[in-house]
Amino acid sequence: MMQTDQPLCPRVPHMLYGGDYNPEQWPEEVWLEDARAMREAGVNLVSVAIFSWAWLEPRPGEYDFGWLDRVLDILHQHGIAVDLATATASPPPWMARLHPESLPLTADGVRLWPGGRQQYCPSSPAYREAAAALVRAMASRYKDHPALAMWHVNNEYGCHVASCYCDVSAVAFRRWLERRYGSLDALNDAWGTAFWSQRYDQWDEILPPRRAPTLSNPTQQLDFYRFTSDALLELFDMERDILREITPNVPMTTNFMNFFKPVDYWTWAKHEDIVSNDIYPDPSDPESPVYAAMSHDLMRSLGGGRSWLIMEQTPSNVNWRPHNALKRPGQMRLWSMQSIAHGADGIMMFQWRAAKAGAEKFHGGMMPHVGPERSRVWREVVELGQNLKRLDEVLGARTPARVAMMLDWQSWWGLELDSKPSESVRMYDQLHRYYRALYARNIAVDFVEPGADLSGYKLVLVPNLYMARGDIAADLERFVSGGGVVVMSYFSGIVDEHDHILLGGYPAPFRRLLGLRVQEFEPMMPDQSNGLIVSKSGSGAAFSCDQWRDEIDLEGAEAIATFASDYYAGHPAVTYHQFGQGGAYYLGTRPDAAFMDWLLERACAEAGATPTAEALEGVEITRRMGEGASYLFVLNHNPHETQVTLPAPAYDLLTGEERPPTIALPPFGVALLREQEPSS
Ligand code: GLA
Repeated sequence: MMQTDQPLCPRVPHMLYGGDYNPEQWPEEVWLEDARAMREAGVNLVSVAIFSWAWLEPRPGEYDFGWLDRVLDILHQHGIAVDLATATASPPPWMARLHPESLPLTADGVRLWPGGRQQYCPSSPAYREAAAALVRAMASRYKDHPALAMWHVNNEYGCHVASCYCDVSAVAFRRWLERRYGSLDALNDAWGTAFWSQRYDQWDEILPPRRAPTLSNPTQQLDFYRFTSDALLELFDMERDILREITPNVPMTTNFMNFFKPVDYWTWAKHEDIVSNDIYPDPSDPESPVYAAMSHDLMRSLGGGRSWLIMEQTPSNVNWRPHNALKRPGQMRLWSMQSIAHGADGIMMFQWRAAKAGAEKFHGGMMPHVGPERSRVWREVVELGQNLKRLDEVLGARTPARVAMMLDWQSWWGLELDSKPSESVRMYDQLHRYYRALYARNIAVDFVEPGADLSGYKLVLVPNLYMARGDIAADLERFVSGGGVVVMSYFSGIVDEHDHILLGGYPAPFRRLLGLRVQEFEPMMPDQSNGLIVSKSGSGAAFSCDQWRDEIDLEGAEAIATFASDYYAGHPAVTYHQFGQGGAYYLGTRPDAAFMDWLLERACAEAGATPTAEALEGVEITRRMGEGASYLFVLNHNPHETQVTLPAPAYDLLTGEERPPTIALPPFGVALLREQEPSS
């Protein structure tokens, strides 16, 4: 059987359930009512003080912890643990008054003023000093409080202000560059400053990539991405080190934001104890379950397969889309179970009580404006709490995946810089096109970063790896020659870590593995497409493709599909190359969904990556495996009843009953089954 892990939060060894709690927005008499209602809902953890800095430190250096003491005491008396925020996410207005230079500056030179939140330059010494002092004061004050179960460091780093272009940031950027390159000569080489008279003679001449008359140096932009992710991480580490010193046994997390481009979550996840995520799928978008599943899989993978936590989702609706759809009855429970199906060990919401004032007053809450007695949402909140109480045996169970999808943040940054053959090639789109084909077949997928150990996988998907760093080519060759299967798409292996072209025919580092050479590539115009003819399937099936055309010379590979028209007619579009014991597919274009289904079914069969269960429209089935037991999650995303037939009867954890193999799931219904014969 697979290994299981310790509970995420040792002080609350259960499925975690709760949400952001902002008591400072309400009079004290409401706090007791809140705590009682939390108990009724089965809440066992709440995140407190995320945006409380101005209340905790109304004047610089003058702390007022009295109200928070009372909140924590009440919560503890009601058996509710606290994910205590360090409160550094939104500096009080006095910070801007005393240190206007701490306000961030955009690439266009626009200052971002107080009045919203997150108005700080990540490199600002004034912000850092005040934040560190606050964290130290919080940790010292609450280190022995029995409610303290977890630390919530800052909040959604980089969400509104990922990077700052001010003079303070310029100095920090230069220091970062000095550490990276050692000398100006090395920097000039890496940045290719022989181009357009950009050679730097002194460190002081180097600036963040502020708005320039035309295209900025791409390596300067790339390094600024790297610097930005590191500058924010420095802030996280600063807080983490203080917390570790004062409360070494309290786990800490900071909430991630799915596929958030500015912050390299591979690096970040290694710095925290618990991976947690905020997710707000759009209920009006039928693709939402696919996007959500993909995000959940990323979170599990960031922690190396360990359980993780939904830190925020809405019980009903958000307020920040142009039009904010409401989750349908049952959908909150379904989507909560979907995260657990992909490895989450807890469900938290934004937020406990819907706000009465402020910019988020139309955002849903577990306790809606209408009040609990009349509220459908509240009834669903209580029901979810009851459901989660039945799931403790799933804690720590792992997801067995034999398919890995490669994602490299640095390559993503490079790919989406300007001055490319096509501005339409986007990382998230590339990932999604592969992912949805596997999702539809119930095939479990992990994400991996370049350099990861691939030995546990049978199929590695590389939807796009524009930048080939380190030993990635040798790693993939070893994987395939040992019997693995790789599928890679166009515009991979184009540049090195400095964004310099790898010469000798594209994709230079992968040519041997793929058995081909790309001479030229050409984007299709946004309204153009081409046909894709499968040459050797015997079916002569025709599909379509768009966005990209490679001009491929075969050097050992065979064409499995060719272009149908234009200059490219009859030329290879998709190829296969047997390499050692395995094989490598290459896509020189962007095929339609039907082709991706066909190709990935073939690649999975060849690799021996089997589905968790048979595919059925709108029904998602995943497995988690614990010690001595395995669990099937059957999720009906259809807004209508759906019959599902499973291989064997099983015990339903939610109803406490044996279920026959054929079950009828209501609209947005869920079954969570302990399998009789644990799969090995
Ligand atoms: C983010 C923030 C929360 C809140 C929600 C609203 O996730 O972390 O404070 O603003 O969005 O959806």
